[in-house]
This record gives sequence, C-alpha cells and structure tokens, in this order.
Amino acid sequence: MYDVLIIGSGAAGLTLALNLPKNLQVVVLSKDTLTKSNTFYAQGGISAVLDNTDSQEAHIQDTLKAGAGLCHEEAVRFTVEGGKKSIEWLLNKGVAFTQESKQTQTSPSIENLHLTQEGGHSYRRVAHAEDATGKAIQTSLVKQAQQRSNIDLLTHNIVIDLITVRKLGGKGQDRCLGAYVLNHHTNKIESIKARFIILATGGASKVYLYTSNPDGASGDGIAMAWRAGCRVANMEFMQFHPTCLYHPQAKSHLITEAVRGEGGKLLLPNGKRFMPSFDPRAELAPRDIVARAIDHEMKRLGIDSVFLDISHKPAEFIRTRFPNVYESCLKFGYDMTTEPVPVVPAAHYTCGGVVTDLTGQTNINALYCIGEASFTGLHGANRMASNSLLECIVFGKAVSNHIISRQHEVIPQMTIPSWDESRVIDSDEQVVISHNWDEIRRFMWDYVGIVRTTKRLQRAQHRIDLLQQEINDYYSHFRVTKDLIELRNLALVAKLIITSALQRKESRGLHYTLDYPIPDITLEQVDTILDPYLNS
Ligand code: FAD
Ligand code: SIN
Repeated sequence: MYDVLIIGSGAAGLTLALNLPKNLQVVVLSKDTLTKSNTFYAQGGISAVLDNTDSQEAHIQDTLKAGAGLCHEEAVRFTVEGGKKSIEWLLNKGVAFTQESKQTQTSPSIENLHLTQEGGHSYRRVAHAEDATGKAIQTSLVKQAQQRSNIDLLTHNIVIDLITVRKLGGKGQDRCLGAYVLNHHTNKIESIKARFIILATGGASKVYLYTSNPDGASGDGIAMAWRAGCRVANMEFMQFHPTCLYHPQAKSHLITEAVRGEGGKLLLPNGKRFMPSFDPRAELAPRDIVARAIDHEMKRLGIDSVFLDISHKPAEFIRTRFPNVYESCLKFGYDMTTEPVPVVPAAHYTCGGVVTDLTGQTNINALYCIGEASFTGLHGANRMASNSLLECIVFGKAVSNHIISRQHEVIPQMTIPSWDESRVIDSDEQVVISHNWDEIRRFMWDYVGIVRTTKRLQRAQHRIDLLQQEINDYYSHFRVTKDLIELRNLALVAKLIITSALQRKESRGLHYTLDYPIPDITLEQVDTILDPYLNS
C-alpha cells in the first residue's frame, strides 16, 4: 500500500511527486517510458509574468479574452499568481531555460531569462529552453525524481481502471482506493492500493487523425474517471494548433507558435498574407482564430496547406532560436532560413477534462486530477499558448499541499479482489482494434473537427454508439492489451466530445458550428458539464 499513487509521469505528475514530503511513499506510473509524454514534446515554453513592464493583471486579462467568456476567473488568477514561483521552482530543479545574454554563471537566473511571445499574449512572457522546453522540463524532473528514495517510478505499467468503494459494492460516500494496472514487464494485471490517487494522464488529441501529440494521448484518465463516476466538462473544446508541418512522412511535427511570435508570417500559395483580414492581431491572434482562418482558406482555395515564412529573418537567428524545428524541417526538405514551410492545423490540446476544484480534487474522495486531463476552469473555450505547462506546475503543487494537510486521515479498509480473467481468452482478431482506431480518428477529423454542423455531429454520434458496442463486447470476451485499453478509452472520450458538442448550441472559442455561427451571450460562463450518473 502506497500513500500516493500518481498515474502519469509528465510535468503534472512529477511536479506533484517532487513536492510531496519524504515521509510519504509515492509511486509514479507511466504507460510507456518516463519521457513518452506530451510534456516532453512541448516546444514554445511556459508563461509567467517576469518582466517589469508586464503585469499579472495583463496575463489574467489575456487568458480571459482567449478563453472567450468561459474561463473561471478564480482559476485564472490562481494560476497566473503562481507563475513566477513555478519558474523559480523549475530553475531550482535544474531546467536550463534560455537566457537573455550568456552569463558566466552555470545556472540561469530568473532576472536574465529570454522571454518570447505567442498568440493571445500582449507581452513577451514565455520562458523557454530554445525550442524544446518540454524536453528540458521532463528530463530535469525525471532526474530529480530518480534521486528520491520515497518515489518508485514504474514504466510500462498501464492503468486499466480505478478501484472505488462504490465499484466494490460499498455504501456511503465514494472513495478511490487504487487502480488495476497491466504490468508490461510481467504481462500480469495487478492492483495498486493507495491512500490518495492522482490522475495526471494528459490529453486526448489522439482521437483525431492528424495531431501534434505522441501516441499515448488517448484520454485514459478522462475515460477512467468517467467510468468511476467523475463529472467531466467542456469536452467540445478540442484545440487545433495552426501550424504542424505538412508532409506525407511527417507525423506529429509541430512548428512552434514562437516562430510567429518572432515575426513568422502565414502565406497563401501565391505569397499573400491572409491573417490581417481575419483579426487585427493577425498571426498572433489566439489559436482558435488562426486555425479556423487557415481551414477557411484551405477549403476556399482547395489547397493542401498554407505556408509559414520566417525567411526574412537572419539565417543565424533562425538556426539559433529554433534549432530543433529548423533541423526537423530540413529533414523533410524545407530550409526555414530560405523558404516558406507548408503547414496545416492539427489536434493539439484537450481544454476540457475531469472537473476539479482549485485543490485538484474531483467529486470522488481521495481522487485528484491535474494537468491536461483536468478541467480546472483555466482555459475556457480556448487555451492560451503556454498556459498549459504553467497549469501543470501550479496544480501539481496545489495537490501536494492538499495531500499534506490530509496525510493523517484514516481510510476505510476494504479487500480488493484480484482482476478476474476467468471468462476471457486471447484475441484472435487484433484487426478489430486497428480498424476501429482508424475509423474513430477519421470520422472525428471529418465530422467533429475545426468546423462542425449538427448533421455531421449526429453522424459521428451514430457511428460512435455502434463502435462502442462493438468495443465493449470485444473487451468483455478477450484478454486486455495496451491497444485495447487505449481504444476503449479513445472511443469513450470521442463519445464525450460529440455529446458535449451537440449540447452547445452556439459557436464559441474552439467550438464552431455552421448551424449556430455566433456566440450566445446568455451562455457566457455556462460550461458543458456531463455527469456519468445522468448522461450515460
Ligand atoms: P503528459 O505530459 O502528457 O503526461 C501524461 C503521462 O500519463 C505520461 O507519463 C503517460 O505515460 C501517463 N499515462 C497516460 N495514461 C496512462 C495510463 N492509462 N496508465 C499509466 N500511465 C498513463 N504547453 C505549453 O504550455 N507550452 C508549450 O510550449 C507546449 N507545447 C506543446 C507542444 C506539443 C507538440 C504538444 C503535444 C503539447 C504542447 N503543449 C505545450 C501542451 C503541454 O505539453 C501538455 O498539455 C502538458 O505537457 C501535459 O502534461 P501532463 O503532465 O498533464 O501530461
Ligand atoms: C507551441 O510551441 O506552439 C505550443 C505552445 C502551446 O501549446 O502552449
């Protein structure tokens, strides 16, 4: 029995683990290696007010504006106020943020960090480690966690489902007791018990055919929380990043928004800029606006991509400021220093998630959720760039504070039964899994993408209902595998997205439907909250 079970080893999970005191026994699970996470791939940076000309109020107002009337102001204030402390903490953990000028000292100081600009921000307030901020954060936090004797780090352990008092037939207030986990090293399903359980499982953008996310982003935490009885909110707000490299062989190749922040322009194939006619902030408008404008131009002109051009900047600046993006474009035959690069939007971030309060608690006792899997109210209808890593650090710390305040609580003693495999056999039809994966991701892209209609959403709803039946039937007959676990979760998350999108009868932020093309002001501050006890 552990004190704390953290499901996920990204920025959120590891921040929590490292903030917990050494007297608590902690286990952190990753379904893959410790660095296979969205965190590792983050490019642009992490937002915080660090410049004297900037202010927390400006960061708050920018976030509220980008969120199109749906952010919870208390969550925004709470997160923004934790900005500077979060960067200090990361520096202290060894994250090598890029400095304004090279100094002789080995560790960077907060006063000297180079700040970049991204969409929606009215000031330069994004701290970064070149163009690979996530890698710098992820590797530093893993290194720190590996040195802590009270933290067990278990890789290739995929959680199948949460164990709760209610699922075991108990009465009274529900409480999370642990989780069933498929251990890939032994190929056995084990139960892990803990006093406090945290979902830090990341987002669900893999539900779309084209995405900037790595393979694991299948929304497992959101699906598990739903099956356990948690409320989920605003799943219709899936964010599409405007600029992923367009090339048949380029899978998940993001080109950071910071390229536009440093002067990059979006062009049509004839070389003409188009963003100024969509928004006065042009290329630095919030993401929903830029992605929709690109989608509009691609459909209007029947073109496969638009182009991102920063070649007017000195070649040395581009190579030094964006070394990784430059190299990956070059690998696909595009030299950013001399030519525009073809780009398309792709699914990037899950703004909705498991409903929590400002201490990270869900509606099930002892179950917390942090990071991209959670819904704290910070992002509203559209997340502003670089606010996500900040949310991971601020809420990782908040959950640690809350657990510390509860560490002496007495918990109910219940016997947890072993996983029952008596009625399942090994599958002889793996093709069902790969086929259903492809089918879901394709119809989600075609019917539940950047521009929606009620008819397309209803088509998607019909398909997902059939697929869920088929997947649940498969799940009850065959031994579980990682692919099956992810497919089952992906299908459930797709269903939650479609249901939420059908409920929102307006266009706002990332949810744009031709049937209700304008925002409904009576729906300002109204979240789409789904409850498993009412909406199943
Ligand atoms: P993740 O980092 O995704 O970690 C999830 C963890 O959960 C992993 O360890 C995974 O193995 C584990 N897990 C999942 N399911 C299970 C399961 N069933 N069992 C066991 N373990 C499980 N945000 C910014 O603020 N700034 C940026 O510059 C930025 N750039 C980005 C660039 C890219 C290409 C991408 C994809 C995202 C970017 N984002 C950025 C978003 C940001 O990176 C993520 O929102 C954030 O890192 C999420 O962190 P997390 O800890 O919540 O989840
Ligand atoms: C990027 O670098 O463009 C991604 C930033 C983010 O998603 O916050």
